[in-house]
Order: sequence, then structure tokens, then C-alpha cells
Amino acid sequence: MRAIVVRKFGATPEVADMPMPEPGPGSVRVQLEAAGVNPFDQRMATGYLDGKLPHDFPMILGVDGAGTIASLGRGVSRFTVGDRVVGKFLTPPAGHGSFAEYAVLPEGATLVSIPNGVPTVTAAALPTAGVTAQDLVDATRIEPGQTVLIVGATGGVGSFLVQLANIAGAHVIATARGPAADQMTRLGAAETVDYTVGPVRDQVAATHPGGIDILFDLVSPPEALTELTTLVRDGGTVYSTIGSASEHALRARDITGGNMESKGRALELSRLIQRVADGDVVVPIDATVPLADGPAVIGAHGARGKTVLAI
Ligand SMILES: NC(=O)c1ccc[n+]([C@@H]2O[C@H](COP(=O)([O-])OP(=O)(O)OC[C@H]3O[C@@H](n4cnc5c(N)ncnc54)[C@H](OP(=O)(O)O)[C@@H]3O)[C@@H](O)[C@H]2O)c1
Repeated sequence: MRAIVVRKFGATPEVADMPMPEPGPGSVRVQLEAAGVNPFDQRMATGYLDGKLPHDFPMILGVDGAGTIASLGRGVSRFTVGDRVVGKFLTPPAGHGSFAEYAVLPEGATLVSIPNGVPTVTAAALPTAGVTAQDLVDATRIEPGQTVLIVGATGGVGSFLVQLANIAGAHVIATARGPAADQMTRLGAAETVDYTVGPVRDQVAATHPGGIDILFDLVSPPEALTELTTLVRDGGTVYSTIGSASEHALRARDITGGNMESKGRALELSRLIQRVADGDVVVPIDATVPLADGPAVIGAHGARGKTVLAI
């Protein structure tokens, strides 16, 4: 079967022919139709999980994937052949990911059925970015009318987070440059801030002199996050998805939050995909790219919503 692999940490991703994976007891084999691309794929290719998980090489990349159950290992009870499913294809040993025609996953992993009416390609865009956005909103308990600044709003996580914060009743300020501002407004942002015309902190301080309640930051390194945190009122909330928050410094100002590590669990994925099926959340797919062109989009910058590989 065709797959996108790296032959060692740091190697350039390439399309390769790999053996068909066999489902062991309690596992299912999924014929993948689509796979969502995340910044994490590039990190894994360069060894982010080296020392934390065993890896097999050539390592098949990709975490998010959706398709159809093609065969069952012994004892599988939750799924049957033909079910449409979406999940996170990252279990030890790493290296058997979703950028492939087939992949195997234990039935108890993050793997859920796709409701009728949700296209498989749409489902594939959800697991990592969508569930992270939902975890952030769940952890924060936004009150209606609170002001939420989202920095890095135009990418995968941000495109879901703008919607979910808006649904929770927040007044959402989203960073966006150029034409991406319109998309943020359509997704539910009340205001946009172009980070290329001046510091976000200064622009938001000018329009919100009393401060903001919540900062979700998806891109800023520690120093920039510290500066943006001065916008947040004492007692507010700050989350970073890239480990930039100093939880000690936040607590000193009675600010809750810190560094978010999304658990990416099946329960949350089910909830989110149901909201998509109900029409409450849309899945902004910027580009659908054939598997053969996948190596060029892994680690690419300037995302607008999600990029999905069509397999
Ligand atoms: N901790 C966790 O559990 C977890 C889970 C998911 C993701 N993450 C991490 O969270 C980060 C965001 O993920 P993602 O999937 O949303 O990434 P993404 O799709 O690449 O989106 C990042 C967005 O930020 C924009 N951006 C870049 N620099 C910016 C700046 N200085 N100010 C404002 N916006 C800026 C980019 O667009 P332009 O450059 O065109 O402006 C892009 O739209 C990644 O580092 C990812 O690895 C962590």
C-alpha cells in the first residue's frame, strides 16, 4: 500500500510502498479515505516523541484519519466491517499513522463512528485541531459576554476555537492577516486584529482599555505570551497550546489556565462530530490534496483552516 514515510528522524517525507498492516486481537483495520494534516506531523517526523514512545521505521506519518472499517481482529465488538470511522492513529509503537491507504487501531483507542450527513473528508479534519479547541473551551467555562482574544486564530485549532467560543457567548477577538479577517468574521469573531500592522497587545489595549477576560494563544513564544498576558484582567484565564505559559507567573496574578495538552479522547471527538452533524460547527477545509502531494504540505506555514489529504 502507498504511504507517506520518513526513513529516520529529520528525513524528508516521501511516498513509499509499505506492507499491508494486519489487525491483531481487539484491533481494526481502517481503509483510509482522508487524513487531516497538523503541525504535529512535522514535529513527529523530526523526533518530538523520541524517547517517549518506541518508533518503527520507515515511520508512516499522520495522526488524524477517517475511512471505513475494512477488517476486524479477534474479539472486536464496537465496530463492524463497513462502518465509517474517524480517529487518531497514534498508538505505540509510533510509525503506523494515517497518511496511508490502510492503518490499524485498537477499537478502544480514539476511534468513533461518523454520523450520517458528515462527509468522511470533513471528519478527517476534526480529531487533533477540533478536539483541542473543544478541550480549551471546556477547561475555561466561558461566561456569556466575556471577551476572548485568540492569537493564531486562522489555522486549524483557531478556526474551531473561534466558533466554539462564539457559541459559548463570548465576544471573540481573532488575529488574522489580510483577507483571512473575513473568514474569521464568518466563523463568529466580533473583531479581528491584523498582527502584521502592529503589536496585537497595543491594538487590543486601545480598543479594550479595561482589559480582556481570556487569552487563548496558539502561536506565541514565551516572551510574546508574557506581553499579551498584560491584557488579561486579574482573575482571568490564559492558555497556550505550545507550552509558552509560565504557570507560576499566571498564579501570581490569580490567572487560571496554563499550558494545554489536549487528551484527544474519543468522548470529546464524538461530542464534536455530533455538533458538526447538527450544523452547529462548520469544518473549514482550506485545501484537499492528493496523498502523492502530501510531502509538500507537511510542515507548511500560513494555514487557513485545515488541509486534508485525499487518499
Ligand atoms: N498542546 C496541544 O495539545 C496541541 C494540540 C493541537 C495543536 N497544538 C499546537 O498549537 C499550534 C497551532 O496549531 P494549528 O493546528 O492551529 O496550527 P496551524 O493550522 O498551522 O495554524 C497556525 C495559524 O497561526 C497563524 N499565525 C502564525 N504566526 C502568527 C502570529 N504571530 N500571530 C497570529 N497568528 C499567527 C498562521 O497563519 P499566518 O502565518 O498566515 O498568519 C496560521 O493560520 C501548533 O503549534 C500546534 O502544534 C498543540
